[in-house]
Parts: sequence; C-alpha cells; structure tokens
Amino acid sequence: MGNFVAKIRRKARYVDPTLCNSCGECSKVCPVTKPDEYQMGLSSRKAVYIPFPQAVPCTYILNMDDCLGNNPIACGKCSEVCEKQAINYDDQDEIITREVGSVIVAIGLDVYDPTEMDEYGYSRFDNVITSMEFERLICAGGPTAGHFVRPGDHQRPKRIGFVQCVGSRNPKIGRPYCSNICCMNTIKDTLLLADHYPDVENVVFYQDIRAFGKSFEDMFQRSKEAGTRYIRGLPGDIEEDPATGNLIVTVENTTSGKLERREVEMLVLSVGVVPPKDLAKISGMLTLSKTSDGFFMESHPKLKPVDAPTRGVYFAGFCESPKDIKDSVCQAGAASSRAGALLNAGEIQIEAITSRIDEQACAQCGQCAKVCPYGAIVWSKGEAAVVVEAACAGCGACGAMCQFGAITMRHFTDDQLIAQVRAILADSPEKKVFGFACNWCSYAGGDMAGISRIQYPSSNRVIRTMCSARVSEEMVLEAFRCGAPVVLVSGCHYADCHYINANRQTVKRVQRLWDQLEKAGVRPERLQLEWISAAEGQKFAKVMQQMEELRKTVTPAEIEHGRKALKPKPKKKVKKKESVAAAAG
Ligand code: FES
Repeated sequence: MGNFVAKIRRKARYVDPTLCNSCGECSKVCPVTKPDEYQMGLSSRKAVYIPFPQAVPCTYILNMDDCLGNNPIACGKCSEVCEKQAINYDDQDEIITREVGSVIVAIGLDVYDPTEMDEYGYSRFDNVITSMEFERLICAGGPTAGHFVRPGDHQRPKRIGFVQCVGSRNPKIGRPYCSNICCMNTIKDTLLLADHYPDVENVVFYQDIRAFGKSFEDMFQRSKEAGTRYIRGLPGDIEEDPATGNLIVTVENTTSGKLERREVEMLVLSVGVVPPKDLAKISGMLTLSKTSDGFFMESHPKLKPVDAPTRGVYFAGFCESPKDIKDSVCQAGAASSRAGALLNAGEIQIEAITSRIDEQACAQCGQCAKVCPYGAIVWSKGEAAVVVEAACAGCGACGAMCQFGAITMRHFTDDQLIAQVRAILADSPEKKVFGFACNWCSYAGGDMAGISRIQYPSSNRVIRTMCSARVSEEMVLEAFRCGAPVVLVSGCHYADCHYINANRQTVKRVQRLWDQLEKAGVRPERLQLEWISAAEGQKFAKVMQQMEELRKTVTPAEIEHGRKALKPKPKKKVKKKESVAAAAG
C-alpha cells in the first residue's frame, strides 16, 4: 500500500511527434486502406493517420501492423514525402518504470456486439446499426461530417426505430444487468433528431424506461412531447423490404396487448455495455476480483465504493459498474481524493482484524504464505513467516491453514470461534442447523432475508467469520463432535470473494473434510457448502429450508457416531531441526 512499481509501455509511434507538423502528406500517399476504428468502421483510414481529432499530441502515428514497410520496393512512400524527416521505421516500444503511491483503475468499457442476437438482423441488414454507430453518423466530426444518412443508400431516413436493452437485462445471453446509460442516450438522440430534423418520426421499442437521474424524467417527457412514440415491447422479428431497404419490425405492444408491424427506414440497436476486454489482465496485475456481472468489485459497496479490495488501488468509471458521465465524474473525483488522502497521510491506520504469527510456534513451513491472496505473508525457507500488517486484509485463510497454532487472527481467533461452536451446540444440538457464514455475502444474505421478511426455519444458528476461508477443518469437526446433525459452510460466490480468491481455500478444505467424513463413516452430505451473495435473501432462506430438511433425515445414532468417530487430532508439534515443510504436508 502506497508503494507500487509501475512499468509502463510507451508504444512506438514511428512518427516523431516533435518533428511532425500534421501536414498530412504522408497519409495522402499511403496506399493502405483500413476501417477506421474511431468511426466504428463507417469510414476508412490509412496506415499512417491521426487516431482521432482530439488526440494528444495531435500528430500522425504509423500502425506497423498495417504498414507495408520501408522497403522501397514494397512502399516507404510516407518517408519519401515527409519534409520534416519525422518518419522513423526503427522506432521501438519503450518501458518506463515509475514508483507510485496509489493506482487509479479507469480502463473504461466495451460495447456489446449484437451479432449474436440474430433476430435483430444486425449482421444481415445494412440499415440496422448500433447506438455507437448512430453517434458517429450524427456527429459533425463523423464519417459524413454530420450529414445524417443511413448506411444502405446514403439517403436521409425519415422514420427511425430504436430498440432498447440490446445486450442488457437479458440473462439468456449472460447479461442480466442494466447498462444504466442506454435509455437516456436514446432519449437524448430522439430530442436531437427532433431538433435538427423535425420531419423525422421516431419510435422507441422498450421494456422499461429508466429515467432516474436529475432532470432525466423531464427529458423523457420532452421527448414524448416532441412526437417520439414509445412502444412497450421488444421486437420479436425484423425483416427487410429488399426493394426499399426499409425494415419491418414485428412487436407485441404489451400496453395494448396487440401485435404490431411497423415499417422504419433505419433501426438503431441501443446496445449495452460490457466489461472491457483487458479487465482480466489488470485484475491479475493488481489482484482484483470481479462481481458476477464481470465488472470490478469494490472493497465495500456502501462504505468504500471507490476503493479496490487491494489497498491503495481505486476505481473510476465503467470498469467498476455501468454509469453515466455525471456518476463517472463523481467517482473520478472521489477516487483522486482517496488517492490524495493516502499520499498525504504520512501514517495510516489499518483495520484491527489482521493476523499475527508467533515466531516461536511457527514451523517455518510457508503454507500460510501460499494461501494468502494478498501476498501479505513474507516467508523464506528456514525462517519464520512474518505478516506485513499493512497488506493483510484479514480474511483468515492463513489462520485456518496453520496446523501448528502459530497464527492468531485478531478478533476471530481459533479459541473464540471454537468457543462459539461449543456454546451454540451446548443444548439440544440435534434440533439445530449449524453454519458458518462470511461477513460480506452469506451473512449479509441472511440480513437481506430478514429485512425482506422472507420466512425460513428458526432452527438455524450461524457463526460469522470475515471470509469462509477462515473456517478451519477443526471448527467443522468440532461442530460434529458437539452433536451437530448438519453443518453449513457458506460464502460469497466462487469468483466473488471479497478477499480476492480466498474462498478457493474454502473449497479445498471442504473437499478434504468430505473425504475425512467418508473415511470416518459419517455421511459427507451432512456437511454442505453453499455460495450465497448479499443480495440473495431468497437463496439464503431456501438453503436454510433445505438444511432443515436434511437435518430431519439425520438419526440420533448417526449423530452419536459422528461424536465418537471424529476424534480431535493432537496439535502438530514444531520440529525446527527436521524438514518442517514435510511435516506440514
Ligand atoms: Fe465471502 Fe470470502 S469474503 S467467501
């Protein structure tokens, strides 16, 4: 935290920006033509080009992947015409190293590619375009210099349809979330068209209009007053009239309950947003985790919405969740303030829940360092492990892993948790559904069930740990020894652990426990592992119901057998002179 080394690749431009005066002679003679990425492929560019009008510096670059090369037989034309001698075919990428105190991740978004939704005909019909392509078509700096035409015949369309939620709120294609910006973007476009081209008829096909921001409802009303027709229902089929290139949209109007067929001259698919493709790479570099929708997960959704779980790393913009410009600007301000506060702090306060290693008890096996998702434990062969407390996030995976009792997880010590297990199961254990729940998801899921007034059996007794990875094998076995008929270990969904990937250890541990139970003649299904997120109150209740049903199947004889068969193992003794790594298994 506060101490990162960043290696930055400065890509070779092959055109010296200090010499280039942007005269454009090189681009004129370049024989290569490629689709212009900035204009969404609606126009072309050369191999030597200015990426976009606002580029800084606003000088030419040469894309070596497209360039024919400097062999005069192949090409070399740009170099020949450049009076300033700015072209340098031998330019190389440069790696710059910087020490930085904090990192702000602002890697933006990608837009959904609607090709897979064949019913909308994006890849079949020229006049079906995405909202991003529409933005380029109506932009003064776009491929048509702001002259609004449809791609099929370059004529100005008079009837335009907009289809909402393309690639959003659709679990069938794995995109169940709302993209947040599409409704208002379409409303803005309809107002813009009404303003510039009053003869244009707009019709919007939607399932819900989400106009929840300041003045947004007002904009929605203005769009309707300007003549835009809003039809509640998403098209089931699109056909093209081959004679005119117009599109026939078949839609069930869910307000009137009637099937409608509407002819439009151009159809704009209001595409949703998806996590940027480089997200996994950045996630690996900064040990970040993702939520189920694929965006980065913040440290805490309410209390630390711009902090990453890795301390000293902050989020701004779309990479954390879909948001509009205003929210992105707010988050960017918050992220820079948080980063500034860290840089100016001098000293920082850390959470009290961190682990501590007793040097004398440490067997120097290094197992704790292997399971720490934050790399917060420093260990080298033949030396006791040491916790870097500023880096420790307090998941407790190390404490559950240590078989020598050398690790104390402050506020969640082995003794405290075992005492809770014994206390809960002291009376009538056979009537209880006993479980462990992680603080961030499963326990919060239980809260959600409670505040949502969802009914579930009152037999459950849950111990909270910060992460499911804190639950050691010994704690589960102790529960069975105390007469628990069933034991539940629950945590965040597999890829959503709030401590990066600590719950992978939970899975490994539960698998070992199932083997152990089987060998001891205890039904392994008496131990259950479930992933329940903070929003899944309903799932929490369902799991508790299932656990209760399972509990009823466990006989007194089985409980008694579990008590006797799962004998406590004597704690491993430290043998410093022998190979302790072997002792740790
Ligand atoms: Fe929930 Fe790790 S924090 S399982």
